[in-house]
Amino acid sequence: MSLHIHERPATSPSAITTNGATRPDAASTTTQAVSLHLRGVEKRFGDNQVLRGIDLDIEAGQFVAIVGKSGCGKSTLLRLLVGLDQHTGGEIAFRGEDGNPAKADARIVFQEPRLLPWFNVAKNVAVGLGEGVDKDEARTKALAALWEVHLRNKAEEWPSQLSGGQRQRVALARALVSRPGLLVLDEPLGALDALTRISMQTLIARVWRELGFTAVLVTHDVSEAVHLADRVIVLDEGRISLDLAIPQPHPRKHGDAELAELEGKLLAAILKDR
Ligand SMILES: Nc1ncnc2c1ncn2[C@@H]1O[C@H](COP(=O)(O)OP(=O)(O)O)[C@@H](O)[C@H]1O
Ligand SMILES: [Mg+2]
Repeated sequence: MSLHIHERPATSPSAITTNGATRPDAASTTTQAVSLHLRGVEKRFGDNQVLRGIDLDIEAGQFVAIVGKSGCGKSTLLRLLVGLDQHTGGEIAFRGEDGNPAKADARIVFQEPRLLPWFNVAKNVAVGLGEGVDKDEARTKALAALWEVHLRNKAEEWPSQLSGGQRQRVALARALVSRPGLLVLDEPLGALDALTRISMQTLIARVWRELGFTAVLVTHDVSEAVHLADRVIVLDEGRISLDLAIPQPHPRKHGDAELAELEGKLLAAILKDR
C-alpha cells in the first residue's frame, strides 16, 4: 500500500484556499530560548555507567548535533535534558537569554511520530499543549504550528492519510505548538527515505531560524549533522570525544566541499578504533 497516494501537490486548489500567504498570529510569537549548562553529568543503570561526566554548555538558540556509535548514550543524554529520566551525578541547569535560571519547557521528537490515530491532524498537534487549554485557543495554536511545517491544509485529515514525512512534520508541529525553549530531536528522520530526509532537513533548519529555540539533535548521519548544526559533538562511551564547530552560514548547500571535509573529520572521530 502506498501512503503517498493522498499527497497533493502544493499548487492544488485546496492548498491555495486553505494555506493562505499570511502568517497566523500565534505563529509569530517567538520562543524564549534557553541555554544549557551540564557539569559532570553521569547516568548509571545499575552497574552500567552510561554517561561518565559530561561537561557541556550550549548557548540559547544554538543548534547542536550529537553523533556517536550505537549504544554510546545519545538517547540517554537527551532523555535527561527533557526530564524524561534523572541523572545519577552532576548538574544540569537552564538559563534564559537574560542569564537567569529558567524552566526549559523542553519538547522531544522521536524517530516514530507517535500520532493518535483517532485524532485528526489538528487535534494531534493540540495534544502538545497539554490539558486545560481552551478549545478555540488550542485550535488556533495548532493551526499556527501546522502552518510552520507547511501542513496547514492537512489539519482535518487523519494520520493514516499522510505520508511518513508528513506524519513526522505533524510530530514536529506537536512539539513546537507550546513554543518550547529547547527542542530535542532523537534521530527524527531515521525512518524516512533519502529525499524526504533532505527536504525535512531544510524544513527543520528553517523552523529553527524562524522560531529561535535551542536545538539538540541526535543523528547517525554525519552529513545531516553538519548540514543543520552550529556545532557537532561526538559521544564515545559516555564521554565527549570531540566538539567541532561548523562555522558555515545558513542555509547550507548539500554537497558543499567544506562541509564534506568536516564530515570526514567527524567520521574519523566516531570510527577511530575500528
Ligand atoms: N532504561 C534503561 N535501563 C537500562 N539500561 C538502559 C536504559 N536506557 C538505556 N540503557 C543503556 O544505556 C546504554 C546507552 O543507550 P542509549 O542512550 O539508548 O544509546 P544510543 O542512543 O547512543 O544508541 C545502552 O547500554 C543501553 O542498554
Ligand atoms: Mg538512541
